Amino acid sequence: MQTFWQKLCRRKSIQQIHDEIIQQDSDATPSLHRNLGLLDLVCFGVAAIIGAGIFSTIGKAAFEGGPAVTALFLLTAFACLFSALCYAEFASTVPISGSAYTYSYVAFGELIAWLIGWNLLMEYAIGNSTVAFSWSEYFVNVLHGLQINGKQLIVIPEWLLNDYYTCSAAVREVQKATADGVDPSTLASNPLQFVRVWETAPSPFGFKLIFDLPALAINVFVTCLVYIGIKESKTASNLMVLLKVSVVILVILVGAFYVKSENWSPFAPNGISGVLKGISGVFFAYIGFDAISTTAEECKNPQRDLPRATIYTLILCTILYIIIAFVLTGMVSYKELGVADPLAYVFEQYHLNWMVGIVSISAIVAITSVFLVFQLGQPRIWMSMARDGLLPKKFASIHPRFKTPGFSTIVTGILVALPTIFLNQAVVTDLCSMGTLFAFMLVSAGVIVLEKDAARLEHASFRVPRIDGKFFVPLLFAAYVGCLWVLPENHGLQSTDFRSFDLAKFEAKIPYLAFLIVFAVMSYLTAVKNWSLIPVLGVLINLYLIAGLGPHNWKLFIAWCAVGFLVYFGYGFWHSKLNDPKAS
Ligand code: ALA
Repeated sequence: MQTFWQKLCRRKSIQQIHDEIIQQDSDATPSLHRNLGLLDLVCFGVAAIIGAGIFSTIGKAAFEGGPAVTALFLLTAFACLFSALCYAEFASTVPISGSAYTYSYVAFGELIAWLIGWNLLMEYAIGNSTVAFSWSEYFVNVLHGLQINGKQLIVIPEWLLNDYYTCSAAVREVQKATADGVDPSTLASNPLQFVRVWETAPSPFGFKLIFDLPALAINVFVTCLVYIGIKESKTASNLMVLLKVSVVILVILVGAFYVKSENWSPFAPNGISGVLKGISGVFFAYIGFDAISTTAEECKNPQRDLPRATIYTLILCTILYIIIAFVLTGMVSYKELGVADPLAYVFEQYHLNWMVGIVSISAIVAITSVFLVFQLGQPRIWMSMARDGLLPKKFASIHPRFKTPGFSTIVTGILVALPTIFLNQAVVTDLCSMGTLFAFMLVSAGVIVLEKDAARLEHASFRVPRIDGKFFVPLLFAAYVGCLWVLPENHGLQSTDFRSFDLAKFEAKIPYLAFLIVFAVMSYLTAVKNWSLIPVLGVLINLYLIAGLGPHNWKLFIAWCAVGFLVYFGYGFWHSKLNDPKAS
C-alpha cells in the first residue's frame, strides 16, 4: 500500500516506457504514423521557432535594451542550448510523445510531471493564443495594403478585430477618468478608440459581441489541418519553413546595405536592467525547439534523429536571430523600434516598399507555421497524460482514419480559441514564456537526477557531454556575488534599507533572491557531488530568466499551478495507472 507521499512521487521507469513503446508498435489498435525523418524534424523545429518573436516581439526588446539586445539573444541561446542538450538526451532515452512531461515522470515522479504537463498547456495552448493575435495583426496590415485608387478592398468591422477584454477595460477606464474629472482623450493608453469599438459592436442578448475574427479563423483552419493528419501538416509546414527562412536571409542581405554603425552606439543605453526587460520577448522567439520532441512517435528513427534535429534547429535559429538583431539595430536607432512590425518598419524608413510587402506577407506565413507546430504538440502531450491515467482516456483516443489524436486536437482548438475571444495578447505572452522556462529548467534538472540511472545508461543513444562542474559552478557563484554591486539593484540586498522596510519595494527582489539561494545550494551540491556542468547551467540560466519576468508574473504562475494541483487531486491522483501496484 503506497502512502500519500509515495503516490505523489511515484515514477515511471525508463524500462517501463520502452516496454510500452514495443507494445504500442505491435498493437492492433490505431497508432500514430511513423512518417518523419531528420529534415522534416529540423523543418518542424524551425517552423515552431521562427515566428511572432522575430517578426514582432524583438522590436520591443530592442527598444528597451538598445543594440545590446543581441547579447540577450546570445544569453538566451545558451539557456536554450543547455536545455536543448538535455531535451535531446531525454528524447533519445524515452522516445514517446509527452516531451518534458514524460521526462519529469521518469526523473521526479507524478506530481512534478503533472505540474510540467499543466505548464506545457500554458506554453502550447496559451502561447498559441499569443501567436494567433500576432497573426491577426499582420493579416490586417496586409489587408490595409490591398487598395485600389486609395480604397481598401476588404474592410472588416472593428468589433471583429478587437477583443472583449481590452474594450471593456477601456470603457471602465474612461468612466473612472470622467468621474475623476480627467479628460479621457488625454489618457496615455488611448482608451477612446476601444470605447468606439464597444459602442458600435452588436449586442445580442445584451452581451457585447467583440472578438478577433482573423485570430479565430486561423485557429479553426490549422486545427482542421492538424486533425486531418500529420502528413498533410508536414508538407504544409516544410513549404512554410522554406519561405520564411528565405525571407529572413533576404532581410539580412538587403538590410546589411543600410546598416549605419553609429546606430550601435551606445550599445546598452538603458543598462543591464533595460536589456533584461526584453527577456520575455526574446525568449518567446526561441520557444518551439522542444516541440520537436512531441513528435517522437511519428519519427522513423526517434533515437537518432530527435537529438540531432533539436540541436541543428537551435544553432540555425540562433545564428539567424543574432544577425537579424544586429541588422535591425544597425538600420535605425533603437528608439524607433518599439513597434509591432519592426522588420517591415525598418524597410519603410528607407522607402523600400517591395521589401515591406514581402516581409509582411511572409510574417503571416511564418506565424502560421508556429501555430501549426504548437497545435500539433499540445494534443500529443495530452495523449501521453491520458495514457498514464492523469486525464480521461478520451484524450488518448486516436482517430481511426486520420491516425491523429482527434479528440485532444479539437479540445486544443477550443482552448486556444477562448483566450482569442476573451483576453488580449499582453495577458498571455509572459505566461507562455514563464511556463516554458519552468519546463526547460526541470528537464535540465532531470538530467542531473538521472545521471547514474542504469536504464538511462543503457538506452540513451545521445548523452549530454559530461564536463565536471565541481570547480566551475562555485567559482561562477562567487563571481555572481561579486557582480551584485554592479547588477541592477533588484538582484540582491545591497541597497535594501531595513530600517524603513517597504514590502512592496522588496517584492521586486524576491525572484532574484530566490535565484541567489538556489544558485548557492546548487554550487554547494555540485562541488560535493561533482554534478555535470551543462545541466546545472541549464537550471541556473533558465531560473535567472524566470526571475527576470518579475513578481507579477510569478504570482500569476503560482495561481496557475494552484489550479493545476486542484485538477490533479480532483482526477489524476485517483486514476493514475501507477495506482495499480502491478504497474509500478
Ligand atoms: N518562437 C515562436 C515565435 O516566435 C513561439 O512565434
